[in-house]
Amino acid sequence: MNKRIKNTNPKVNDFRNEVIEGLKMEQKYINPKFFYDDEGSKLFDLITALPEYYPTETEISILRDRCSELKGLTDGTEEGIELGSGSGKKGAILLNCLQDLKKYVLVDISLSALESALLFISERFPEKEFGALCIDYMIDDFMGAIDGIAAGKRLLIFLGSTIGNIEPSSARNFLMECRKQMESGDRLLIGVDLKKDVSVIEKAYNDSQGITARFNLNIIERMRRELGVEIPEKAFSHMAFYNREIGRIEMHLKCNVDFSMEFQGERIDFRKGETIHTENSYKYSIDEIEEILHEAGFSRTSCLTDQRKYYGIFISDP
Ligand code: SAH
Ligand code: AVI
Repeated sequence: MNKRIKNTNPKVNDFRNEVIEGLKMEQKYINPKFFYDDEGSKLFDLITALPEYYPTETEISILRDRCSELKGLTDGTEEGIELGSGSGKKGAILLNCLQDLKKYVLVDISLSALESALLFISERFPEKEFGALCIDYMIDDFMGAIDGIAAGKRLLIFLGSTIGNIEPSSARNFLMECRKQMESGDRLLIGVDLKKDVSVIEKAYNDSQGITARFNLNIIERMRRELGVEIPEKAFSHMAFYNREIGRIEMHLKCNVDFSMEFQGERIDFRKGETIHTENSYKYSIDEIEEILHEAGFSRTSCLTDQRKYYGIFISDP
């Protein structure tokens, strides 16, 4: 294990308990944070390279093309803290652009993603200082767990529209908690997928190579691997659609057969046709995200978009 990784051991028990609790609900549910084990993080990386999955390349194009504006808007920040840093590739793009950053801290729930991201990024920037923290940022005090923070000079970074995987009210509360830990001079930089033509969005979650299906179904594999539960082969199929009323992609696993799952003395029945709801991915308008940031207490929000207005990068003061 790399010594620069601080591991708070986001609890394995949580997977067992939360999965069982979620599967006992009327609408069966599994929290999307459980997608990201070793295999899930690899599958997400494959998703980011898919021709249909526009968010990654669009966000990267904004980070590259609008670098001088980004510099101006984050002036004075010396330490980057990236939440849900994944592969670390966007961190490397930011470090190329924001050369005043002296230190960069990767934060992720996936230990394997952190290990490879830290290697990837530290090899490219040997002159910078790096930290890595394996934590569930929704539960634990991630700011408190980062050593030697220069308050007032930090850039809190949340890319990939991962905020869209959190319910809007929780997203607002989460951002509010982040803001409370920030000081004047710190900045927030957040990337958000914007509302657009529904067919573009739906294709991104129903790719022709079936990688998103494998990503979704990996949660069933994870249950087999880690919990030892018996689930019939091909019991579930991937399903993703845009819910226009709510403005979100919903991912589900649709059950293809009637069966029961026995787990630690509990029995959970599955009926053909019912679904496990595995992820929401909210799409926002610029106004909606600015309102959430405002309600969370942030001020002076600036927004950088791409030409098609598919995606927004928002920079706010605490
Ligand atoms: N920011 C990267 C990765 C996005 S995928 C990009 O834009 O490509 C979402 C990332 O957030 C994954 O690496 C996942 O492991 C991490 N993540 C999801 N929920 C988390 C949580 N509750 N706490 C910490 N990390 C989380
Ligand atoms: C990480 N997150 C923002 C991705 C999204 O688009 O909601 C996860 C994902 N799910 C399916 N494809 C990608």
